[in-house]
Amino acid sequence: MTQDELKALVGQAALKYVVPGEIVGVGTGSTVNKFIDALATMKDQIKGAVSSSEASTVRLKALGIPVFDSNEVESLSVYIDGADEIDHQGHMVKGGGAALTREKIVAAQSKQFVCIADESKLVDALGAFPLPVEVIPMATARVMRQFAAMGGRAVVRMKDGQALVTDNGQHIVDVKGLKITDPVAFETEVSQWPGVVTVGVFAWQKAQVCLLGTSQGVKTLN
Ligand code: 5RP
Repeated sequence: MTQDELKALVGQAALKYVVPGEIVGVGTGSTVNKFIDALATMKDQIKGAVSSSEASTVRLKALGIPVFDSNEVESLSVYIDGADEIDHQGHMVKGGGAALTREKIVAAQSKQFVCIADESKLVDALGAFPLPVEVIPMATARVMRQFAAMGGRAVVRMKDGQALVTDNGQHIVDVKGLKITDPVAFETEVSQWPGVVTVGVFAWQKAQVCLLGTSQGVKTLN
């Protein structure tokens, strides 16, 4: 099976976590796009979605799924999103699609995080994927120096020759070379640096369930 087919497989499998009559939290990325396509087949059974990015909002609306502002919704039963890496405890690195801040917000208002990923995303320890961090532009150089002091190599993410601007009007730095041995402690520390909007380690809001697409079918890790 191709990676695309594995993504479609887990996108479809995630439907069983969607609670009929409710609003579902929807993440961002190519795997989530497969989930959104599958969700459209049961759109008459749900109230709608809270979306974690402008890109997912556009896709949801195009398929006729109503999108609610997160402020209108107190809590969600489930949030479904992909990951760039996930370890065996459900800690993740996210933000490859630059949507990490809104992803963390929607995850925080959800009772259950269901991660959907192809098997290439499962790792023993986080850190091989360059860690995305959303930063306020005036703090970029300082945050990059702080990562260098911990042995990381940070670069500003670019798009069309300019620093990429997130849905929140901020920038992203991607950090290579980090060893994230204690994801909770790492997330806690970096989140406190001035100018860091969101660090792409999801340890406080880890996944309770991971639907992993493998050539043998969908494996459920929890
Ligand atoms: C976006 C994310 C995505 O969930 C992550 O990058 C995985 O994306 P894909 O499903 O395309 O591999 O965190 O900010």
